[in-house]
Amino acid sequence: MNLPELPLRMRRMRSSPALRNMVREHVLTPHDLIYPIFVDEGISEPVAIASMPGVQRLPLSSVASVAQQTAALGIPGLMLFGIPKHKDAIGSSGWDADGIVQRAIAEAKQSAPELSIIPDTCFCEYTDHGHCGVLDGEHLLNDATLENLQREAISYARAGADIIAPSGMIDGMVAAIRAGLDGEGFDQVPIMSYAVKYASAWYGPFRDAADSSPSFGDRASYQMDPANGREALREAELDLAEGADMLMVKPGLAYMDIIRRVRERFDCPLAVYNVSGEYAMIKQAAANGWVDEQRIVLETLTGFKRAGADTILTYFAPDVARWLNDA
Ligand code: PBG
Ligand code: ZN
Repeated sequence: MNLPELPLRMRRMRSSPALRNMVREHVLTPHDLIYPIFVDEGISEPVAIASMPGVQRLPLSSVASVAQQTAALGIPGLMLFGIPKHKDAIGSSGWDADGIVQRAIAEAKQSAPELSIIPDTCFCEYTDHGHCGVLDGEHLLNDATLENLQREAISYARAGADIIAPSGMIDGMVAAIRAGLDGEGFDQVPIMSYAVKYASAWYGPFRDAADSSPSFGDRASYQMDPANGREALREAELDLAEGADMLMVKPGLAYMDIIRRVRERFDCPLAVYNVSGEYAMIKQAAANGWVDEQRIVLETLTGFKRAGADTILTYFAPDVARWLNDA
């Protein structure tokens, strides 16, 4: 036997739970989570979403109790997606003072005032064609959509929204919303911009859940090309210059490098969206007994923090908070 001397043995610091606890670099807590829910104006009982086991479309009457439970678990944010009864070409339900999201915001605020209520601010759930704004033929009109985004954001803020989260990848959306909010006295309402959002197949189950599939074409003329990384930094820089208070990278799993690059370049609060396809994939593998759901979810979300995210939007949020609180 002639083994070299090892000056450093990495295993020394892994040799007991106490040492591992002592040197752990990242710790996931319920405070790291935002819970996205779907509120459907057309139902009176919760309805299961086949492609997202464990997730339901909720009637307005469920919002108060879900908001309370979310807050009680220590989760600081609730993201709202609305499915309106009325859809039209411009998505006018989005700025109806009596719209489903506006009413859901009011319900949630009343039952859980300490929770940050974050309405997703876009039009694909409100338009009859499923695109994220106003069309001219098959072309998404940028600046006409900006005016409607101002109306929608102001309407959400009036209803009590704590954070506005524009998700449409419309150029200038952050500046337009900032000006609109400030003009109405909502200068204290922050903007969480979906700054880096890719045209992704990982949104598949969501489009069932929110009834928001485009009726023709796709979103590649406004969402980013999955092949582009440098462009993500330009998107992030622009949104910060327009006044975004927080940025988001979406999806998560296939874009860990993008989270890391945005984190290294910009010192702003950063969110990641663990999207519907990521949720569905883990759920199905776990249902088949192929992976351990709790371990794989905790590992995945800790990975987002390690990559550089400050907050994680995930349909697993209540389960994760329960696991962490019980541990
Ligand atoms: C709407 C929106 C989408 C998601 C969040 N906001 C869908 C899309 O852009 O098609 C996806 C969320 C998910 O997949 O969980 N613009
Ligand atoms: Zn949209």
